[in-house]
Amino acid sequence: MSHSMPQKKVICVIGVTGNQGSSVAQRFIQDPTYHVRGLTRDPSSSKAQELAAQGIEVVQANLDEVSTLQVVFAGANIIFSVTNYWEPFWRSDCRQKAAERGISCRQYAYEIELQQGKNIADAAAQHVDSLEDNGFIVSTLSHAQKSSRGEYRELYHFDAKADVFPDYVANNYPNLAGKMSCVQTGYFMSSYKLIPDAYFKKTNDGSFWMTFPTAPHVTVPHLDVNADMGNFVYAVSKMPPGRSYMAEGTTCSWTEYMRLWSEVNSVPAVYRQASLEEFVLGSPDAEFGREAGDMLAYSTNPGYDGGDKSLLKASDIRQAGIDCPMTSLEQFMKKENWLNVLQKT
Ligand SMILES: NC(=O)c1ccc[n+]([C@@H]2O[C@H](COP(=O)([O-])OP(=O)(O)OC[C@H]3O[C@@H](n4cnc5c(N)ncnc54)[C@H](OP(=O)(O)O)[C@@H]3O)[C@@H](O)[C@H]2O)c1
Repeated sequence: MSHSMPQKKVICVIGVTGNQGSSVAQRFIQDPTYHVRGLTRDPSSSKAQELAAQGIEVVQANLDEVSTLQVVFAGANIIFSVTNYWEPFWRSDCRQKAAERGISCRQYAYEIELQQGKNIADAAAQHVDSLEDNGFIVSTLSHAQKSSRGEYRELYHFDAKADVFPDYVANNYPNLAGKMSCVQTGYFMSSYKLIPDAYFKKTNDGSFWMTFPTAPHVTVPHLDVNADMGNFVYAVSKMPPGRSYMAEGTTCSWTEYMRLWSEVNSVPAVYRQASLEEFVLGSPDAEFGREAGDMLAYSTNPGYDGGDKSLLKASDIRQAGIDCPMTSLEQFMKKENWLNVLQKT
C-alpha cells in the first residue's frame, strides 16, 4: 500500500442480508474510505453472493454464538447492530419449544433476541479499543414496560432491544456505552406488505379502511427502511457519540397516512380506530395480533418512542451541518406500486 493511501476504516454490519443492514452496507460502500464487512449465517445464499459481488466482505457469524462474533469484530472501527425478533417468533421449531416450556412464542422470541443483543454487546466490548469514538451504532426501540410505567409488560419486541441497547451496555460496559449511539426506527413504510388486510381493508363499496388500535390523531414515525436506514446511520456516524435518535422520514397520524394514500391512489380511504380485541380477532395469527396490537395501542400513550421528546431526528442532524436525506411518506407512496392492494377482491 502506498503512503498516500490511508488504510480504510472497517465497518462491521450485522444483518447485512436484511432490510436495515443491507441499507447500511449500501451507504457505506459508496464512501471509499470504508471497508464494509457484512455478517450472515450463510455466506452462500444468493443475497450474500450479490453483496460479495459488490465488494462487500461477507463473513459467517451467528448471533447465537458469541465466539463467532468475537472473531469477525476484530479490527472494527464501527459496528452496526440489529437483531430480528420476528425470526424466532415465527419459526415452527421455536413455537414448539415455547409450547414445551409453557411460555408464549412472544416471550420465547424475547429471550432469543435479548440473548443475541447481549452477545453482540459482550463481543463488541472485547474490541472497544479499535472502535472509533462513535463506533457502536445500534438499532433499537423504546422500553415499553418502563415508559408505560408497567401498563405494557408484553411488548416484547421493543423491550428485548431496549433491555440491551442502552441498558445492558450502560450497566456492564461503560467504555462501550461511551461510544454508542442508539437509533430507534419508525414504522417501516414497507410493513403494509406483512399485514395488507389490516392496513387496507377493501369494503363492499370499493373504499379502503385502516383499522388499528392507535388513536386517530396521535402521530407516529414512518421510515423507508430500505432507502434510508443507511443514509441515517451514515449521518449518525458523523455525530458525537452518546445520543439517541429516531430514524424517520415523516411523522404523522394514521388518519393523515390514509388521507395521503387516498390522494395518491385516487380512491376513498379512511382511518377508523379499532379496539385491541377487535385487532387481535382480525389477525391471521393471534400471537402476532397481540404483539402488533400492543405496539399500536402503546403508540397512543405514552407513544411509539415511549414519549421521549429528546430523540434526535434527521432535521436535527441537518441542523448540525450533516447531510441526511430521508424519503417522506408521500414520496414513498408515489414510488410504490399499489396494484396488488388496489386490485384485491
Ligand atoms: N417491520 C417494522 O415496521 C419494524 C419497525 C421498527 C423496527 N423493526 C425491527 O426490525 C428488526 C428486523 O430488521 P430487518 O427488517 O432489517 O430484518 P430482516 O430483513 O428480517 O433481516 C434479518 C437479518 O438478521 C440476520 N440474522 C437473523 N438471525 C441471525 C443470527 N442468528 N445470526 C446472524 N444473523 C442473523 C439475517 O441474516 P442471515 O439470514 O443472512 O443470516 C438478516 O440479515 C426486528 O427486530 C423488528 O422488530 C421492524
